[in-house]
Amino acid sequence: MGKLRPLFTETEISSRIDVLGTEIARALPTDFVIVGLLKGSFMFVADLARALHRAGSAPRIEFMRLSSYGMGKQSAGEVHLIGDVPTDLARQSVLLVDDIVDTGRSIAYAETLIRQREAASVIACALLDKPSRREVEVAVRFVGFEVPDLFVAGYGIDYAEQYRGLPFIGVVE
Ligand code: IMP
Ligand code: MG
Repeated sequence: MGKLRPLFTETEISSRIDVLGTEIARALPTDFVIVGLLKGSFMFVADLARALHRAGSAPRIEFMRLSSYGMGKQSAGEVHLIGDVPTDLARQSVLLVDDIVDTGRSIAYAETLIRQREAASVIACALLDKPSRREVEVAVRFVGFEVPDLFVAGYGIDYAEQYRGLPFIGVVE
């Protein structure tokens, strides 16, 4: 496993997530549902849930698993559903959480599915946003950090299934 060039430290990530938690708690009803996209968002959801708890929110937590990126740095371009949310989302306020918004396809796909379930609302949140890579227009209301077109890993995010367990985010060079 090669070394990453550090981009966001553990401390930077946790302070940013605290702020996001406060903003989200203020914007959503206390009983919303988090739908995290697996696998990349698992660490972010875990820390965001605790930040939300500190800010007075008590969301339900669900996950949806979409097709993986494959083993390289390029997206396959097509999104597939691998694991669905097993519970009823009708009339729920949903916070859709992903690690990175890149082309926007994953968020757009998940949002369409959740709307088909007749959720009351769907608001998207991503730890990282690469706006220069967007191919599909999506509204991401809560963003941790904007990043340029670099391939990153760590903090739940992988490169060929490596680096997910790192507590910080770095650039794969
Ligand atoms: P999108 O559907 O193109 O927006 O891609 C989103 C997904 O691609 C993210 O949830 C990540 O899993 C993956 N992805 C995008 N950029 C990166 C990166 O820099 N490193 C690792 N995974 C990435
Ligand atoms: Mg992902």
